[in-house]
Amino acid sequence: MSAYSPPEVRPLISSERIAERVSELAARITRDYAGGSVVLLSVLKGSFMFAADLARQIALPVRIEFLGVRSYGDDTKSSGVVQITQDLTRPVEGLDIVIVEDIIDTGLTISYLREQLRSRNPASVKVASLLHKPARIQREVDIDYLGFTIDDVFVVGYGLDYAERYRNLPFLGVLDPSLSPQA
Ligand code: IMP
Ligand code: MG
Repeated sequence: MSAYSPPEVRPLISSERIAERVSELAARITRDYAGGSVVLLSVLKGSFMFAADLARQIALPVRIEFLGVRSYGDDTKSSGVVQITQDLTRPVEGLDIVIVEDIIDTGLTISYLREQLRSRNPASVKVASLLHKPARIQREVDIDYLGFTIDDVFVVGYGLDYAERYRNLPFLGVLDPSLSPQA
C-alpha cells in the first residue's frame, strides 16, 4: 500500500479487497457479454480508476467512453441536479453499454444518465458501480455489477474526492474532517 495515508481518512476498504472485487466483476462482465463486445462508459471524474482497473480485466473487445457530469449541492451531498460537462465523442447507437460509476448514493445521477442515454439508442445499458449507499436512495436503481455496499458515510480515495482531494489514494476510506484542520 502507498505510504500516502492522510490522518483524516480512516481506511475502510483496502486496495487488495478492491482488486479482488474488481476481478470478480470483470469476470462476470466477460461471461455476460461473451462473443460480443462492450462499451465502458466511465462517468467522470470519480470512476476513472475503477474503470481503468475493470477495463484491464475484461477479456473481450472493450471500447472506453467518458461522460463528464457535475452534480450541484453542498460538498458532501449530491443535489440530483446534474449537468453534463463533457459529452460522448462517438455515437453509441446499437452498442452494449456498461455505465461505470464510482458510487450510487441518492440514485438521482444514474437515473438521469440512463434517461439521457435512451435517446442515443444503444442496444443495451447496464450499470456497474463500485459502491452503493442504500441509506440515502431516492430513486430505485438496478445495479448490475456492484462492488461494495456501504453505510451512510462519506468516502474518499480510489477515484472519489472531497473538494477534488484524495482521488489518488489507492484504498477507500471514510473522511473524518475533525481529524484534520485542513480537510
Ligand atoms: P447520487 O446522484 O446521489 O447517486 O450521487 C452520486 C454522486 O455523488 C457520485 O457519483 C459522487 O460523485 C457523489 N458522491 C456521493 N456520495 C459520495 C461519497 O461518499 N464520496 C464521494 N462522492 C460521493
Ligand atoms: Mg460521480
